[in-house]
Amino acid sequence: MSGLLNMASLADFEPLAAVIPATKVEITVSFFIYLYICFCVVCVLYTQTVANREWREFGRTEVIDNTLNPDFVHKFILDYFFEERQNLRFDLYDLDSKSENLSKHDFLGQMCCTLGEVVGSQGSRMERSLVGIPGKNCGTIIVKAEELGNCRESVLMQFCGNKLDKKDFFGKSDPFLVFYRSNKDGTFTICHKTEVVKNTLDPVWQAFKIPVRALCNGDYDRAIKIEVYDWDRDGGHDYIGEFSTSYRELSKGHSQFTVWEVSHSHFPHVYFTHFCLKYHKHLLKISYTQINFTVAIDFTASNGNPSQPTSLHYMSPYHLNAYALALRAVGEIIQDYDSDKLFPALGFGAKLPPDGRISHEFPLNGNPENPYCSGIEGVLEAYYQSLKSVRLYGPTYFSPVINHVARYASLVKDGSEYFILLIISDGVISDMAQTKESIVNASSLPMSIIIVGVGPAEFDEMIELDGDEVRISSRGRFAERDIVQFVPFRDYIDRRGNHILSMARLAKDVLAEIPDQFLQYVRSRGIKPQHSSHSSSSKPPPALVHPVHPLQTQI
Ligand SMILES: *[C@@H]1O[C@H](CO)[C@@H](O)[C@H](O)[C@H]1NC(C)=O
Ligand SMILES: *[C@@H]1O[C@H](CO)[C@@H](O)[C@H](O)[C@H]1NC(C)=O
Ligand SMILES: *[C@@H]1O[C@H](CO)[C@@H](O)[C@H](O)[C@H]1NC(C)=O
Repeated sequence: MSGLLNMASLADFEPLAAVIPATKVEITVSFFIYLYICFCVVCVLYTQTVANREWREFGRTEVIDNTLNPDFVHKFILDYFFEERQNLRFDLYDLDSKSENLSKHDFLGQMCCTLGEVVGSQGSRMERSLVGIPGKNCGTIIVKAEELGNCRESVLMQFCGNKLDKKDFFGKSDPFLVFYRSNKDGTFTICHKTEVVKNTLDPVWQAFKIPVRALCNGDYDRAIKIEVYDWDRDGGHDYIGEFSTSYRELSKGHSQFTVWEVSHSHFPHVYFTHFCLKYHKHLLKISYTQINFTVAIDFTASNGNPSQPTSLHYMSPYHLNAYALALRAVGEIIQDYDSDKLFPALGFGAKLPPDGRISHEFPLNGNPENPYCSGIEGVLEAYYQSLKSVRLYGPTYFSPVINHVARYASLVKDGSEYFILLIISDGVISDMAQTKESIVNASSLPMSIIIVGVGPAEFDEMIELDGDEVRISSRGRFAERDIVQFVPFRDYIDRRGNHILSMARLAKDVLAEIPDQFLQYVRSRGIKPQHSSHSSSSKPPPALVHPVHPLQTQI
């Protein structure tokens, strides 16, 4: 095999990142709705700007007879983003005419929720009362979510070419492949490009893994177009030819290969062979895993006196400060996954009453026996109470709160609970060596750490803890996996005061890695994802069937 090059020069294919969702947590859900009325309209809240939020109809169920507790057969398939708040509304109507116009039907009640609440409910089944007609009991609605298996599948594929058309006047070709998935409207979207194999007419490209969703949007019969190019230093890559296939065709033979003839080629005998391996990601069943969300807030003096407007802890009657904004942004999404909505909340770096003892892990509600606060509002309340009672002090130690949560996380290793610690802090960490060791220790536990840095500091230490560049280590021991996500709060401040959208972006960025961190944990521990007993479509994840070898066969 000749030298493999990365295609850094292919700037013309840049939109790749926008095509494959960066989050990797998109889940499609279907709904089963049981109620005793006639038809149901599902609406989704679209948020373009704060002022421009509107409910749009997503779809309607069929009309059913007015019998007790019937099931709607119609299912809705929605994209699911763990890290976003996806508001849904279910409106129920009594069919009164043949009209499509909803105002011609009797409104029977509605239910608003988020998709996260449905997925996060016990067994992903949520039962709620319908509301909307004052003084009337409108009945109950049951919404069920189920993950569709095929959307989390990835395939491993490898392609090779044989006797490719020679495009360079001197020497051989430098071929690479570009993959496109077809859209419903007949257009194509680029979804993968291979590396360049230099100076060959018989290239063997490296095997690559791609989500089925990116390749064909979960539709096995949709056309996948593959173009063959000859790489050129100046960027004007020569088109060699193309061929089409589908996921179904690709997945037909695991071990035998398929041959395609490349169109438009001067060579009549140009073939591609491939082999394709089905690789199933563990299903993300966060719904069977309780999330234990713990908040830790920095009460060191560097934040400034809370009574002063310059303080990061300033308690303004009009605005939430940075701590409260960050807490609310992240907490409001996470609380949907926590059915009891009781959150332990800790503070660190303060002198506590009555004796002025410095503490690096004190309960915000002042009750070490029961540090739980009720909902995010409860955490905020306890936070404000603490600001009034403790004295901001120092230094800034992270490791006590990390160890605090790790102690609990180390007790639950069966995948039934996953711990998320949100640390909000204003800067320089004083116990960096211990913090790193605590993180390395925690990296083998069911636990993720989110750090939000508030204020104007440089945050060098927090960037290091994030470990995106260099895997964090302590005294020669490396973290087993990346469990820390850091963001500077200032990157999310909207100058025009548009907090809703910028905080949604903050939450999205800090939460986006959590599902993968969770999956890495369950996978590394060999924990089988649990399946709902009612689910019919979810199959057990097939194991990786074969090891991958570059295909050397020539035709
Ligand atoms: C539905 O009916 C109402 C009242 O008759 C009317 O004002 C409205 O424009 C209609 N909407 C549509 C979409 O036809
Ligand atoms: C959740 O974690 C906290 C520590 O951060 C602990 O106090 C609490 O007991 C845990 N709750 C459960 C149900 O494990
Ligand atoms: C990390 O784990 C080791 C071994 O369990 C322990 O001795 C050490 O104290 C832990 N480090 C921190 C900073 O907690």
